[in-house]
Formats: sequence, C-alpha cells, structure tokens
Amino acid sequence: MSTLLLVLLGLLSLILCVLRGRNRREDEPPLIKGWIPYIGKALEFGRDAYSFLEEQKKKFGDIFTVHIAGKYMTFIMNPLMYPSIIKHGRQLDFHELSDKVAPLVFGYPPVMSRNSPGLHDEIIRTFQLLQGDNLTALTESMMGNLMLVFRQDHLAERPGEEGGWKSGSMYEFCNSVMFEATFLTIYGKPVSASRHSEMRTLREDFVRFDSMFPLLIAQVPIRLLRQTKVIREKLINYFLPHRMSCWSNTSQFIKRRSELLDQYDTLRDVDKAAHHFAMLWASVGNTIPASFWAMYYLVSHPEALEVVRQEVLDVLNLSGVEFNRDKDVTLSREQLEKLLYLESTINESLRLSSASMNMRVAQEDFSLRLDSERSVAIRKGDIIALYPQSLHMDPEIYEEPQTFRLDRYIQDGREKTDFYKDGQKLKYYRMPFGSGSSMCPGRYFAVNEIKQFLCLLLLYFDLQLEEGQSRVTVDSGRAGLGILLPSTDVCFRYRLRTV
Ligand code: HEM
Ligand SMILES: *[C@@H]1O[C@H](CO)[C@@H](O)[C@H](O)[C@H]1NC(C)=O
Ligand SMILES: *[C@@H]1O[C@H](CO)[C@@H](O)[C@H](O)[C@H]1NC(C)=O
Ligand SMILES: *[C@@H]1O[C@H](CO)[C@@H](O)[C@H](O)[C@H]1NC(C)=O
Ligand SMILES: *[C@@H]1O[C@H](CO)[C@@H](O)[C@H](O)[C@H]1NC(C)=O
Repeated sequence: MSTLLLVLLGLLSLILCVLRGRNRREDEPPLIKGWIPYIGKALEFGRDAYSFLEEQKKKFGDIFTVHIAGKYMTFIMNPLMYPSIIKHGRQLDFHELSDKVAPLVFGYPPVMSRNSPGLHDEIIRTFQLLQGDNLTALTESMMGNLMLVFRQDHLAERPGEEGGWKSGSMYEFCNSVMFEATFLTIYGKPVSASRHSEMRTLREDFVRFDSMFPLLIAQVPIRLLRQTKVIREKLINYFLPHRMSCWSNTSQFIKRRSELLDQYDTLRDVDKAAHHFAMLWASVGNTIPASFWAMYYLVSHPEALEVVRQEVLDVLNLSGVEFNRDKDVTLSREQLEKLLYLESTINESLRLSSASMNMRVAQEDFSLRLDSERSVAIRKGDIIALYPQSLHMDPEIYEEPQTFRLDRYIQDGREKTDFYKDGQKLKYYRMPFGSGSSMCPGRYFAVNEIKQFLCLLLLYFDLQLEEGQSRVTVDSGRAGLGILLPSTDVCFRYRLRTV
C-alpha cells in the first residue's frame, strides 16, 4: 500500500515537474509562464491580447516569451526591431504553421504532405495572378460587378421615393455589396444569369461560419461545434467541381487553382472544394470589415468625405459636368492609383481597425540579433510573434492614435512615409497585411476594390449617419486574426445625388 502511494506521489511530482514547463536560460528573453500548467497565460491573452501585451511590455521590456496553451511565444514589441525578424526567412518559417491550422479551419488535407508533392509551391505561384499586370483584368471585372450590384439593388428608385432618403445598416450594406461583387469577380457567374440565385443564403452561412472562426483558429475541434460543421459542409459543397464548371467569367486566378488541384489524384472533390472555400474566406473575411471602417470614418467625418468626393470627381474630370447616373462609372487602375486622399483614408482605417498577429516558427536553435547591441537566444520550435496593433496605437508614432485623420498619410500633397520611434525612422509603420513571407498576396486587389466601392458610394449618394448614435468601437473578438469587426452596426441614410 505505502509503496504504491510512494510510486504515485513520485509520478505526480514528475508530472507536475514536466507540466511546470521550462526555465529561462541566461541569454533568453524574460519568461512569463502563468501558474496553470499547459494553459499558461492563454486565458489572459485570449481575453484582450492588446492590453495583455502592453502590460507585459511595461514590466519586461521590448521582448519577452509567454507560455500560451503549450506553446512558447516570443513577442517583439519594439517596431525598430521588426526588420531583423522579417528578414530571417531561413530560420523563421510561416507556412509550416499555417499548414497545421488552415486545414483544421477549412477542412482540406494538409498541403505540405507526401501525398501532394509540389502542391504548396504551385499554390504560392498562383498568387502572382492577383498582382502586377494580372490585376488589370480583375480590377475591370470588379468594377463591372460592383456596378451591377449597385444598379440592381441600390440605384433603382422605387415609385414614391424619388429623391428621398433611404435608411440602411452600414455593415449589412457593405457586407451584401462587397461579398457578392467579390464573389462574382473571383469565382464568376452562372452561365445563364448575371447573379447567383443562392447568394443571400451563401452569405448568411458564411457569416455564421465566420463568427466561429476565432474558435476554429484556436483549434477547438469542429466536432464540438456541430452546427458549424454542418454549415461548413454546406459552404464547401457550393464549390464542388460539377457546380463550378457551370460558372462563366471565372478569374484566371481560380481557373489556375482548379487546374492545379485537378492534377492531384489524391485530392477528392470535397478537398478541392474546401480549397476554394478557404480562398473565399481569405478574399472577403477581411475586406468586408475593412470596407465598413473606411465607409464609417468617411460618413462620420463629413468634411473628409467632401475632400475625397472632390478628388474622385477631379480624377474622373466630372466637376461641373452634370453627373449622369444612367451611365456606368468606370475607374481604371491608373485612375484608382491617383486617388491619394482616398488611399490615405483606407490606410488610416486599416491602421485603426487591424489586429493581425505575424507569427514565425524557429527552425533551429539560434541567436536572434535585435539591434546593434542586443541579441537573444531562441529555441527550435518556439514561435516568434509581432503584434502590429501596438505599433498602430503607439502615441509616440501616431499622435492621437485613436483619432481618424484624413491626411495621416499625406504631406505636402504627397504620401507621407516618415514615422519615428525613439528618434529613429521606422521601416515598418503600418502592417495590416502581414510581413515578409506571409504578406497578403491579395493586398493590391483588396485596396483597389475598396477604392472602387467607396468611389461609387461617393459619386452616387449623399450619405449621413442617423442622429443620436454613439461612436462605434471595435469588437476584440478576433484580436490577432485580422481586421476587427465593429461592436455594433450603424444606422445611416443615403439618397441619390442630383448633381
Ligand atoms: C483588407 C483586406 C485584407 C487584409 C487586411 C488581409 C490580410 C491578410 C494577412 C494579415 C495575411 C497573413 C496572414 C498571416 O500572417 O497569418 C493574409 C494572407 C492571405 N490573404 Fe489577405 N487580406 C485581405 C484581403 C485579401 C484578398 C482580397 C485576398 C484574395 C483575393 C487575400 C488573400 C490572401 C491569401 C491567399 C493569404 C495567404 C497567403 C499565404 O498563405 O502565404 N487577402 N491576408
Ligand atoms: C501574372 O501571372 C503570370 C502567371 O502566374 C506570371 O507569370 C506573371 O509574372 C504575373 N505578372 C506579374 C506582373 O506579376
Ligand atoms: C464575361 O466575359 C466575357 C468575355 O470574356 C465578356 O465579354 C463579358 O463582358 C463578361 N461578362 C461579365 C458580366 O463580366
Ligand atoms: C477635363 O475636361 C475638359 C473638357 O471637358 C478638358 O478641357 C480638360 O483638359 C480636362 N481636364 C483634365 C485634367 O483632364
Ligand atoms: C497605402 O498603403 C499601401 C500599402 O498597403 C501603400 O502602397 C500606399 O502607398 C499607401 N498610400 C498612402 C497614401 O498612404
């Protein structure tokens, strides 16, 4: 009996010892473990990542390691040190990590597996179809699709409401327009119609899936989220090959990805469909809230809205000419590139609303050089993380960081690029799209489509917030995962402009 007890006690203390985790070595950053085995600081981090990290920064300085759900994450909090992390391509890998998480979230088999040799590299290669010259066709197609949705859903006047104000919910408005126009541009339309008849259901299912996204990323098994599993299956089935083959005007980007996936016999039809579904999430999941914030900041700052509207009219050379709403607006890529105030608006809204975390996994034990004086030891398998929200909200870099300023990124009629920390000019001062090897490949398309959306809004409508609403704040529910959602929707009114 007593020997058994002794053995048990021995085992218990061994387990506790293992669970206590590691101890800091001399040349490593300060280690913050928390007292709960395995979980570590996961709960505090999960509750409010931004405040948690700011607090640790005050206590421990620019760099520290936090034990979060079994992982050791080293946070680099000083943006002057970002360049040294971002350039460490060889020792710090991104895609291995994303290939562990994305398959769980979207339901396709890991890409970097022996069953699909070369697939990962080929997928990365398809991203070129979103950039450079290849962006021109996408931009033209998006213009047409936005015009289509605007005209059919918002420009037609119903009898009795000529010239009158209509009310709307701003997030809902952005969501319905951007979801459908982006979908049509990337995936195409049914052969015999200009729009997909199930678009509303698809969008509603997408929103329900999206609301569970933070849990899925945290690797809560989808088996435990039964409804979500059913909805995800429905969403994936939408992209089965026999359905997609009935669509026309599909982008080169998606066509190429379908061809590529078809080359792998190991992939079932549902696996291919899951890849297309994942791309739907990537292409609208952040773009919709980003469009919302840009629209919200303009509509709630009427003087800024006027400046941007005038800029758009000037670029189209429509000033003084009666604006004819029966004619479709087209804005070319070159025209979109000239819209400096509009671009500053979008960049400023991205600064205010983005909270993505950039993560890399150390491929070996190595010494990470932070600046000319300091380096720290990093262990193989540890995660190195940047949290750019703390840079975006740093009052030393951005005066009154919570305030929207139309000309935040403009100086003397040109783009402003000099921002300082400790008297030193920053190389990275705005990072809504990630960095280095994990930089968003859709960023040019995203900014272009948000520009197009805002141009149409400003050209066609007078816009106002409904009275008596309090300022909208961000919902931190997806801190670390991209653009934050608003905590509530906003009521606004709009009417067709007569000039
Ligand atoms: C405002 C809109 C957008 C924002 C803020 C955004 C942000 C991001 C960020 C931060 C990442 C990196 C994720 C990480 O480091 O873990 C990313 C990756 C990605 N984004 Fe975007 N994105 C936007 C729009 C788009 C659009 C429109 C597309 C496609 C049409 C797209 C396609 C992708 C893809 C495919 C990846 C994964 C890249 C890889 O695996 O290397 N994104 N995005
Ligand atoms: C457009 O895509 C093609 C095919 O992937 C690629 O070869 C080309 O470099 C891309 N163009 C640009 C300017 O990125
Ligand atoms: C679809 O593509 C065809 C030719 O590629 C083009 O003429 C047509 O305008 C496109 N339709 C839409 C709705 O984009
Ligand atoms: C705007 O249009 C007028 C004629 O309608 C033309 O004379 C003028 O040069 C144009 N301005 C620009 C900047 O293109
Ligand atoms: C806005 O941000 C993009 C990169 O995201 C950059 O290329 C562009 O120059 C910026 N423009 C302004 C006015 O800040």
